[in-house]
Amino acid sequence: MPNEHHTNAKLWGGGFDHGTDTWMDDFHASIRFDRRLYRQDILGSIAHATMLGEQGIIPIIDADAIVSGLRGILADADAGKIAWRVDAEDIHMNVESLLTERIGEAGQRLHTGRSRNDQVALDTRMFVKDACAAAIARLKSLAETMLAIADKHTDSIMPGYTHLQRAQPVTLAHHMMAYVEMLLRDIERFAHARESADVMPLGSGALAGTTYPIDRQRVAELLGFKRISANSLDAVSDRDFALDAMYACSVCMAHLSRLSEEIALWSSLEFRFITISDAYATGSSMMPQKKNPDAAELVRGKTGRVYGDLLALLVAMKGLPLAYNKDMQEDKEPLFDALDTLDGCLNALDRMLATAAFHTQRMSRRASEGFTNATDAADYLTGKGMPFRQAHETVGGIVRACARRECGITDMTLDELREFSPLFDEDVYDELSMKACVARRNLPGGPAAEAVEAAIAKARQRLEAY
Ligand code: ARG
Repeated sequence: MPNEHHTNAKLWGGGFDHGTDTWMDDFHASIRFDRRLYRQDILGSIAHATMLGEQGIIPIIDADAIVSGLRGILADADAGKIAWRVDAEDIHMNVESLLTERIGEAGQRLHTGRSRNDQVALDTRMFVKDACAAAIARLKSLAETMLAIADKHTDSIMPGYTHLQRAQPVTLAHHMMAYVEMLLRDIERFAHARESADVMPLGSGALAGTTYPIDRQRVAELLGFKRISANSLDAVSDRDFALDAMYACSVCMAHLSRLSEEIALWSSLEFRFITISDAYATGSSMMPQKKNPDAAELVRGKTGRVYGDLLALLVAMKGLPLAYNKDMQEDKEPLFDALDTLDGCLNALDRMLATAAFHTQRMSRRASEGFTNATDAADYLTGKGMPFRQAHETVGGIVRACARRECGITDMTLDELREFSPLFDEDVYDELSMKACVARRNLPGGPAAEAVEAAIAKARQRLEAY
């Protein structure tokens, strides 16, 4: 145990007899991770100082000095020239003390009418707004890659599954479009999260606002915020916007994880529906034949981590009394991690899908095995007048007979089929082809080429809105 306190002078140290222990500095400092907010912090301070000057709260000459000092710090930070200091605790005090070091006394006027509590809320909101926009851009790119695959494969028949058992034929385009729909909803969720972050909290002070005649609307306008927060206590203790963004990340990861699972399955020797490009696959150090879908597996694995990030913040927030509590500093690492992880995963899947080879002939062959036209056989009999329940029963019998003979329904002769029902006719062979089974499902949301083409056009339209 250290027995001497190092006197680390603090911006807030006026009421303290001596400085904090360096161990304590290290324990509670957030600069290690919140340095990432330097741009937001500096831009927020530029807007705040500009408003303070305009309102006559600080001399214009000082406001000008602050703004140009901050611009200099921003340029140096962009150039990687700033050594952030742990003893200055967080990004807010790092920037402020650096500013005062550079421009002298004027720098000491920057924090007038402001607290780190409303400042950190502002910085984090600005960060989330940008990050949601970036996530939307990545989602759009992945959706476009999928749309390009769908464009090419509206006639590529593949087996559709339930319970991982072959069920009914669909097309590769229809399957891709299922994911496009998920991504469109993800985009909507990120747009909502961005909206919920778009509230300007400065003016809330530490918890009870401020006595200075500040202009909150002006700061919102300078920073491009749509609204200002309505309650000072809420504004400094609200992290819903971060939770919204992490929830959007989590649901999106669920979608990416399901896609990854399918990519891994499809690239197995058992399926062989897809070959992942060598550029995004890896080998085994022992087994020379191996080509593993690592990127897909990683996306699947990282999904749990993003859920953990969301849960970490949910739990951190749940018992906090109003208003700000230091627990809330724990928001940043999971927030950054969730957004970074999602970004990497969207990128990985985009690259993997864009370069993968789809083996459509094998998909189509697999679709025609496993009695995926059995429903259509029952529908055929229903069309000839048999009640559906009887038709289901009749086709069940045919399937059992076929399974014994290891053949498909249309491998039976007409006479054999007629033993099950006299309603079968020559046309059954055309009617039960995979092509006919898919084409017949030409309803909105269905797998027929025409329906999927309409879905593709609509999806493109929805994407354009973002
Ligand atoms: N580093 C802090 C955070 O990230 C900033 C706000 C600290 N406020 C305070 N009163 N200690 O939450």
